[in-house]
Formats: sequence, structure tokens, C-alpha cells
Amino acid sequence: MKNTSVFASAVAFASLVASASPTLSRPEDVAKLIPQETAGETASRMAWWTDSRFGMFIHFGLYAMPARHEWVKTYERIPEDRYRVYFDNFNPDLFDAREWARSAKEAGMKYVVLTAKHHEGFCLWDTAATDYKITNTPFGRDLVKEYVEALRAEGLKVGLYYSLIDWHHPDFTVDQHHPLRGDESDETYARLNKGRDMARYRKFLVDQVTELLTQYGKIDIIWFDFSYPGKHGKSRDDWDSPALLALARKLQPGIIVDNRMDMNDVPGGCDFLSPEQFKVTAWPLLNGKRFPWETCQTFSGSWGYHRDESTWKSPKQCLQLLIDAVAHGGNLIMNVGPTGRGEFDARAKARLEEFGKWMHWNSRAIYGCTEAPAEFETPDGCVMTWNPKTRRLYLHVYSYPSSGAIGLRFADRVEYAQFLHDGSEIPVKGLPDWQKATDPGACTTFCMMPVTPPDVAIPVIELFIK
Ligand code: GLC
Repeated sequence: MKNTSVFASAVAFASLVASASPTLSRPEDVAKLIPQETAGETASRMAWWTDSRFGMFIHFGLYAMPARHEWVKTYERIPEDRYRVYFDNFNPDLFDAREWARSAKEAGMKYVVLTAKHHEGFCLWDTAATDYKITNTPFGRDLVKEYVEALRAEGLKVGLYYSLIDWHHPDFTVDQHHPLRGDESDETYARLNKGRDMARYRKFLVDQVTELLTQYGKIDIIWFDFSYPGKHGKSRDDWDSPALLALARKLQPGIIVDNRMDMNDVPGGCDFLSPEQFKVTAWPLLNGKRFPWETCQTFSGSWGYHRDESTWKSPKQCLQLLIDAVAHGGNLIMNVGPTGRGEFDARAKARLEEFGKWMHWNSRAIYGCTEAPAEFETPDGCVMTWNPKTRRLYLHVYSYPSSGAIGLRFADRVEYAQFLHDGSEIPVKGLPDWQKATDPGACTTFCMMPVTPPDVAIPVIELFIK
């Protein structure tokens, strides 16, 4: 991090702003409040993350018990006294942090991000800032502590998600997403928000983020979630995002921060874009430039455990989420919502196992890979990834050819080709002249595939490029 004196005064100023009502919102003003880096510094800080390509999200909280979406409190407008039953009975007795960590590692994931607090406001660590915490439930243990230790033991990078939104905190003002929202009129909001004070809430944010980033050793990623500027919404001024970001960077130099603090327009205001449950078809831009990105995806739609959801993606669809992300230069963070007893359920386990099986053979086409250079035209039925260091190009065969061949328009660049799962040669051959004449527009050189597809969910051909 450059320029420490500017940084120190930025922190001081930012905390000053935290106690007043912040009015700074112009990007050029905000940029002065947060540390700035050169492009090279940012790239090397983020290198482990861009090389990893694959992580696990874990959404766990009281909402695992109603088991019908992590937004259940606001979707069903459940009042505090009724939501209390989950707190009073929270006891995920089968929780084993080592199991969670092992499952992530075996699936081929390199980092994990856990909801230390989600929008419901319940805290999974022994915070001093509120009583609404896991150590006051029958479970009684600091889950964040066990989680960070287990990840480190497996060599995984440690991420925490922290909800900016808080539907339990008495100072958090009622807005368009709040369970107590009324008829949307200004008068109703004024009545509901009487006595609520966002300045006090901002202080609570600073206190909690300080705890998370000082009491658990090295934290590699923090996910702040989320902003919804506009009428009856919340923006960077409500959270005092510059103060929180400066704090995170000060307490954990090297930490990687998402982009949901409403700072996309501020230089240095975020580290990656986070397209959610959405298929990216081209590398996303920020201010006209390609920017690091990570798509966050669920197995079935909800983030928290949802017992009755019947919209589970197939294992193959899940694999495609990963390949499609890397093919456009991004990461995938795949979510698991543990059950109320603290375990991954059978449906999640089955998909994680499929990831693990595929990654065992094909991780070389994922780790350290990115979008292929434009000079390589994508063959029919394939998606490509590229490792710029080893100069290997990977054809992920989504649609296995019935003709026994995949046409290549850049065969002159290929030195050798093989299936990645078993290292068996795929001959690259030209067509005999008499066949070339039958379809003049078609490819003339092919990867000659075995007629019977290999027993791999998505076969990969590794091309050694000259
Ligand atoms: C959203 C949702 C949420 C989930 C998150 C993950 O913004 O509010 O429930 O935690 O995205 O990306």
C-alpha cells in the first residue's frame, strides 16, 4: 500500500465522518479517503485470488431453521418476537468446521467465504457489540473461530461476509427491504424511523468489522453486502463505506474486498465485481476497463438452506458455471447453505463431489487460467480456457461430436493434443482432399475424438500451443 501518511489521515478523517452524518459522495472526494495503489500493486495483491478461480460461499444463520430462504424474516415480515424462536433454539449440533473445510478442499475450491452476519443481524462470533450472537444461543460456541482455524488447517484462504444491512439492530433505519416496512409513504417511514439513528449504527459497523479483522488472524477476503441507493434505500453515505474500506485495508493489508459498498465509481473503491446468479457472456468492464470479477452462484436459488426448493442445478450445469466464468476471465464462488444442524445436505454434497471428481482430472484447465486470446477461434460445441504461463489451451467439450471430430481453425499453432483426464493423445489431422471439396467453408483440420465419449462429465482437450 502506497502513501501511508495520506492513508493515516484518510483513516482519521473517515472515522470523523463516521460520527457525523456523511455528506461526501462525489467519487473524487471519496477517493481521497481510501488508500490508492498502482495497477501492479493491485494485481500482485490479488494474484492468489485470480489464480484460484474457485471458492465456496457458506450462508449460515438462524434462517437455516425456517429453511425457506435467508430473507424469510422480511419476505414474511416476521416480527422480532416471532423470529426469536430461532435464536432461542439455535443448536447446530452436527456442525464440524473441519468437515466444511475438507468438503471445500476436496471439491477443488481454494477459498471460502462465510456469512459472519447476514441481513437478519445474527452474529456467528462472540461479538462485544451486541447480545444477538451465537454464544448466547444453546449452541454456545464461537463458530467463526472454529471456521477460520479449520480453513487454515486445510490450507484454504479465509473469507468473511459481513452484511451491511441489519434487520435486528434498533438503530438501523427501516427502508424498502426492512421487515417492518409499511405503506411506502414518507410519513410512514418517518414514524417507523423515529428514534433510529444511523450514526450510532455506523459506529456499530466499525466496531464489528474491527473485531472480525483483529481477533481471528489473517483474513484474506471480506464481502460487504449490499447497497441499494435511492429513495428508501441505502448507499455509501449510509454505511460510510470509505471509512469501512480504509479500516479493512488498514487492519488487514492485502485483504480483498467486494464491490457492494456502492463504490464502483471510486478509484480504489473495490477489488472485484460480483455478478450474482447471472451468466456473464463477456469479461465485465469497470470504467471502460476489464476488471477482476467473481460470479456468486447457488445450487438451487436460495443462499440459506432451503428444504423444499426443487430448482437444483444438475452437476453438469454447476461445472459449466465454473468453466464459463474462467472462460471470461472470472472466478466462481459456489454457495452451500448448511442445515439447521450445521451440515451440508445430501444434494449439496453430491454436487460438491462431482466438482471434486472433475477437478481431480481437470483443475489444470481452471487454476491460473483465463480467457483465451482472440486469435484462437472457439471450435463448435466447446468453451475455451487458456493458461498464459504454460501456453496451453483447453477445449471444454460441452457438446460431444457425433462425427468423431472437432474442427480447428488454428491447427497450425498446435504442437500436440491430449485428453486432460487420462493424458491420451488426440490426433490432429487434416481431411483428405476429396472431402475438403464437399464443404468449402468448413474446417480442414480436426481433433480426432474417440467415438465413445470418455466417462467425464465435461471432457477437456489440452492443446500445447507452439
Ligand atoms: C444478495 C442477497 C443475499 C446473498 C448475497 C450473495 O445480495 O441479499 O441474500 O447473501 O446476495 O451474493
